[in-house]
Amino acid sequence: MDIARTPSTADGNPHLADAPPEPQEPAIIRREDYTPFAWLVPETHLDFELGLESTRVTATLKVERNPAAEASPVLRLNGDGLKLESLHCDGEDCAGWAMDGDDLLVTLEGDAHTITIVTRFDPSANSQLMGLFASNGMLCTQCEAEGFRRITFFPDRPDVLSTYTLRMSGPKAQFPVLLSNGNEVATGEDGDNHWAEWHDPWPKPSYLFALVAGQLVANRDTFTTMGGRRVDLAIWVREGDLERTDHAMDSLKRSMKWDEEVFGREYDLDIYNIVAVSDFNMGAMENKGLNVFNTKYVLADADTATDGDFDGVEGVIAHEYFHNWSGNRITCRDWFQLSLKEGFTVLRDQLFSQDMGSEAVCRIGDVRVLRGVQFPEDSGPLAHPIRPDSYREISNFYTSTVYNKGAEVIRMMRSMAGPERFRKGTDLYFERHDGEAATCEDFIRAMEEGAGLDLEQFRLWYRQAGTPKIEASVLHSDKTTLLALKQSVPPTPGQPDKKPMPVPLRIAMFDRATGQHRGEQLVIMDEAQKGINFDGFAEPPILSINRGFTAPVTIERDIADADLAFLAAHDDDPFARYEAMQDLVTRHLVAAADNRLDDAAKASAREAIGQALANIIGDEAVDDLMRGELLVLPSQTYLAEQVLLADPAAIHREREGLKAWLGAELEDLFTAMHSRASKVPYSLDAAAKGARKVKVQALVYLAAGAPDVARAMAWEQYRGADNMTDRQGALMVLAGIDGIERTNALLDFYNRYEGNDLVIDKWFSVQAQSLHPNAIEHVKALADHPDFTLKNPNRVRSLYMAFAANPHAFHAASGEGYRMIADLILQLDPINPQTAARFVTPLGRWRRLEPGRSALMREQLERIAKADKLSRDTYEQVTRSLG
Ligand code: PHE
Ligand code: ZN
Repeated sequence: MDIARTPSTADGNPHLADAPPEPQEPAIIRREDYTPFAWLVPETHLDFELGLESTRVTATLKVERNPAAEASPVLRLNGDGLKLESLHCDGEDCAGWAMDGDDLLVTLEGDAHTITIVTRFDPSANSQLMGLFASNGMLCTQCEAEGFRRITFFPDRPDVLSTYTLRMSGPKAQFPVLLSNGNEVATGEDGDNHWAEWHDPWPKPSYLFALVAGQLVANRDTFTTMGGRRVDLAIWVREGDLERTDHAMDSLKRSMKWDEEVFGREYDLDIYNIVAVSDFNMGAMENKGLNVFNTKYVLADADTATDGDFDGVEGVIAHEYFHNWSGNRITCRDWFQLSLKEGFTVLRDQLFSQDMGSEAVCRIGDVRVLRGVQFPEDSGPLAHPIRPDSYREISNFYTSTVYNKGAEVIRMMRSMAGPERFRKGTDLYFERHDGEAATCEDFIRAMEEGAGLDLEQFRLWYRQAGTPKIEASVLHSDKTTLLALKQSVPPTPGQPDKKPMPVPLRIAMFDRATGQHRGEQLVIMDEAQKGINFDGFAEPPILSINRGFTAPVTIERDIADADLAFLAAHDDDPFARYEAMQDLVTRHLVAAADNRLDDAAKASAREAIGQALANIIGDEAVDDLMRGELLVLPSQTYLAEQVLLADPAAIHREREGLKAWLGAELEDLFTAMHSRASKVPYSLDAAAKGARKVKVQALVYLAAGAPDVARAMAWEQYRGADNMTDRQGALMVLAGIDGIERTNALLDFYNRYEGNDLVIDKWFSVQAQSLHPNAIEHVKALADHPDFTLKNPNRVRSLYMAFAANPHAFHAASGEGYRMIADLILQLDPINPQTAARFVTPLGRWRRLEPGRSALMREQLERIAKADKLSRDTYEQVTRSLG
């Protein structure tokens, strides 16, 4: 049927009910309501006639009844804002069809049919960046989770797997490069137009579909797999960016090799393409054979990327590559199972990075992310289990809980089984479910059988939200020592009562007599209370617990400051050493912010911390990368998490006060460390990266305790820098201290990198995140800068995420910071709801703040909730945050 030529009502659809629907509260989707889809789609043919302003898509779907599902004559094809140009069944008019909201319902009489659908839309108007969109003159898709339905009507759910064949055509000058999933099977020319046909032999869900068309150049290489398959690798970027792709290519080849060696996984196509785009909501996307990346996670060279950026590229390249097995070969049955692919793949990329660099430093970095983002999520209004029970908008569940806690949960299985048995479990999982859309339960069962674990009680980690708390105390009498453990899991929204979960804790007891422990043990704390006996200690031993951070829990241990200082200096587990240092500082700052310390108590605590830091600076057994970690003070977010109602101003005052005291007290040590490290020439090896890390730490302390010294040192470092880590580190310090150097450095940085989007993002972030007392005013001015735009998610985040993470500015007592974020959400929501909704999280902390700020923050959430038209994304986050 040609829709345009049928008699119709005003809106062009004869099957629509007369009255326009009332604006409705978005529906809640529940995990327990899952049913298999009534139809299978064995084959999908797509024909794209490409244009930046108008693209026409002809989709031909072979459909047949699904014998494994309850039969239904109605085929539901999801759509999102699509205009139907025509619809045919087996080449004829369809007997019955209707719109149900955005979805197209087709009634089919027989068991197998061919449906042909034509849609047309304007990619240049797609500011949500979901579906097919334009970015810098190129066309690009993003389909996870529900973007394919913005391209054509389709059963847009991950359990409908189909084999895709695609043809695309368009002006050759505008789109010289045409890419899609799988292999290129034919190309041709047709006047000014050209076309390409691609075929992907691996059945896949629609969210893994991808298409790219544009003016791109490639960094090419090859990789030969363990089975002897020669794979052509290509990283596609804009012309001027080619020199910055070597690190990504190198990371890709190392990932492919590592996954063969460590997980036995081999690549399964002859081509692996990666495309970099500058307008992207997320980090990257694992589309089969055609990954699409945010430029931030592809481009890196010494002049424009920091050491952290280099690590980010390596980690994300690995993550997307690893998805080829954990995500693509085995996908998710429904979106509630998201952690099946994401948690597992994050663990895989963490283990890879650990093997490429320093295991301890990677672990500390992973835990810092978990504590900085996931723990607050788990203790706030948006808390949810790693396998959620319901959602309104799935984009809101791409969370640190699903990703990072999901990875921790699988890491616990690995700790309990050991690496060899864990590998048996993953082997069984990959073998048993290859080609399927699986569930978390499938993964758990494969682990039980393959790795020989009993995970009956462990399944609670998938069902219960909230960060478990373990209280530990050591009770010592004449000859016996008892380690008493208690576990509690806090209530979270919708889950008032919790059961104890199995918590694997690696533990060691240090003997005071020798300063050594007698070996570690793995204790599975699976009850509300448990006691463990030790003997042979003449004096009470010193407890080192959750070594290596074996479990994603908080620990409250009954331990003296002097014992923490001992562990900070002597624990042989590097993570435990870091942890002891963090605990020592955290305890002090929490007490000080709560006004619980008199002058004498404060002075003696500072002395102890100063002594511990001095030890670390002077300890020749520690490398600089690790030293840099040990020197980092606990973040303000982490400190705020330790108390029921936080006063951000008090925490800030005490944290900065301690930093200033340490900077002044240890000035000579910090300057000496800085000058020693400044002699190390630039390279990407661990020693040189470590040297750059301790240089920044030295400047950070000195900026607080000896600003004049710091200003001069930072300015010198800035001017002499031959790499971005040194340059940005110095700029960050200068941005917080008034003076001509501040102005000069910011101006120089802008002029030097004008036009380089990723570096200009840093220029915005450094100012939004600075300790400068006028940071709020700076952010307001930057929002009016000609380089600022709400259309580019990286740019929005570079200004406003950085600002929301700047405690002294965001938590200004006036409430101004909260208002600015609320304004941003309201402005951004109609443009890019997915990114707008992410800014609701910082406003969700109101229950955990002192009364004044709490009320101001809540007021802003209510203001957003009252807005006329909110996206489903923002609506869900705001109502949950207020709830
Ligand atoms: N699946 C992507 C990843 O984790 C993330 C992503 C989600 C990207 C949704 C885009 C949209 O690698
Ligand atoms: Zn992922």
